[in-house]
Amino acid sequence: MKDIAIQVKDLKKSFKTTEVLKGVDFEARRGDIFALLGSNGAGKTTIVKILTTLLKHDGGTAVVNGFDVASKPDYVRQSISLTGQFAAVDEILTGRENLIMIAKLRHLKNPRQVADDLLNRFGLTDAADRRVSTYSGGMRRRLDIAMSLIGKPQLIFLDEPTTGLDPEARIEAWKIVKELADGGTTVFLTTQYLDEAEQLADRIAILHKGRIIANGTLEELKKLFPPAKTEYVEKQPSLEEIFLAIIGKKEGK
Ligand SMILES: Nc1ncnc2c1ncn2[C@@H]1O[C@H](COP(=O)(O)OP(=O)(O)O)[C@@H](O)[C@H]1O
Ligand SMILES: [Mg+2]
Repeated sequence: MKDIAIQVKDLKKSFKTTEVLKGVDFEARRGDIFALLGSNGAGKTTIVKILTTLLKHDGGTAVVNGFDVASKPDYVRQSISLTGQFAAVDEILTGRENLIMIAKLRHLKNPRQVADDLLNRFGLTDAADRRVSTYSGGMRRRLDIAMSLIGKPQLIFLDEPTTGLDPEARIEAWKIVKELADGGTTVFLTTQYLDEAEQLADRIAILHKGRIIANGTLEELKKLFPPAKTEYVEKQPSLEEIFLAIIGKKEGK
């Protein structure tokens, strides 16, 4: 049994008269990639904000890395890192400057070295000294994730890490998330895409109408649905596969 990284019980949150979370329950295990899947407006960002101490809940409990978010928010903050739905990078600074700034804010001893290593790891060395305003969406998102890794958090929150990215940048982001998890980081991500959860997650929780309506591994979730009828048809490539073949990239590369 793996340790529990996040434990949420009967979590409730309303905005004025709108009840967004009506009693949400789930657990995410240490070392896993956990995907919170839900359509636009389901309450994913609300949950991320509560778990990262940016927003107070109305009822229930949320424990992150063993710390209750309501009573021990400082401890929670020290043990996590958050990459928001919209990139938090400073446009006027270069990629390198953004990384150095965060490393300094986190009081690391060698901010330049930390920046160099991350630029290299995220394929941003060539663009390191350009202003972020000139970066593509994929580059920004990579820089954003790189920034959130400074200080080596044990648990990282990624709120819709690939929304708005083109297919190529999306696959790059997936690769990065997989590498993080392989390195032992627990990843809590939100997504509206079934295929993203399918590709990445060890465990998936589906948020719908204020509650978790299904929760488990992909295999477990598949068992909830009646077996598919077997049909003998030639498999047609998906539009995404065709697009990637044309531009010369393969999934998982
Ligand atoms: N600060 C707020 N004030 C009022 N309503 C909000 C606020 N934040 C979110 N909401 C509402 O809560 C619901 C869930 O929002 P959100 O958590 O952002 O969903 P998701 O991230 O799944 O798209 C939406 O209906 C949204 O309009
Ligand atoms: Mg959101």
